[in-house]
Amino acid sequence: MGIRINDIAPDFTADSTAGTIHFHEWLADGYAIVFSHPRDFTPVCTTEFGAVAQLAPEFAKRKTKVIGVSVDSVEDHGKWKRDIEAFAGAPADFPIIDDTSLTVAKAYDMLPAEYYLPAEGRTPANTATVRTVYIIGPDKKVRLTMTYPMSVGRNFAEILRALDAVQATDGVPFATPANWVPGQDVIVALSVPTEDAKAKYGELDIKLPYLRFAKRPV
Ligand code: BEZ
Repeated sequence: MGIRINDIAPDFTADSTAGTIHFHEWLADGYAIVFSHPRDFTPVCTTEFGAVAQLAPEFAKRKTKVIGVSVDSVEDHGKWKRDIEAFAGAPADFPIIDDTSLTVAKAYDMLPAEYYLPAEGRTPANTATVRTVYIIGPDKKVRLTMTYPMSVGRNFAEILRALDAVQATDGVPFATPANWVPGQDVIVALSVPTEDAKAKYGELDIKLPYLRFAKRPV
């Protein structure tokens, strides 16, 4: 069974480019994004990490920490960071976990169906993690998961948009419609009677009895 929405994100201790990480301690009580990639020094992964490096101010604005994972070593991650910065023009200042032991990959179900573990001579090529993303809430519960195949680079603008939607709906009776972006109206949860919603959120835009939009309180 993989990681499910609302599971507590598995805890682990691992080496990283920022030293030893005790994951739950590192999370503290904020939002975090964990994302894996297959291998260091590969083309798609370099564009992805470059995209995350460029978005660092956006993650900071959302008080969200970011951490990368692959089955490569801290030494490789450190060298690869230089390539990422040269490509993206922004430093990859977030930690990247050394998961040569596969501890994190297994705990988070980041390995593809065909992975195999030769008794000897295992290389990252045997066990490359796929492109997973986990958004974790301040309560350490998994809010969102996403898995892309090796051949498809992720859209980090969408990950940022999904983070905005998660933060906009956490602990309030709202949901976001398809393609929502910040500034647009949100959907009032079915659990809230219309009169109560009007009293609390003002005028509603009622498209259907069960599809009621409200301005998001600021
Ligand atoms: C990549 O381009 O990210 C990639 C290429 C081959 C294997 C794994 C990743």
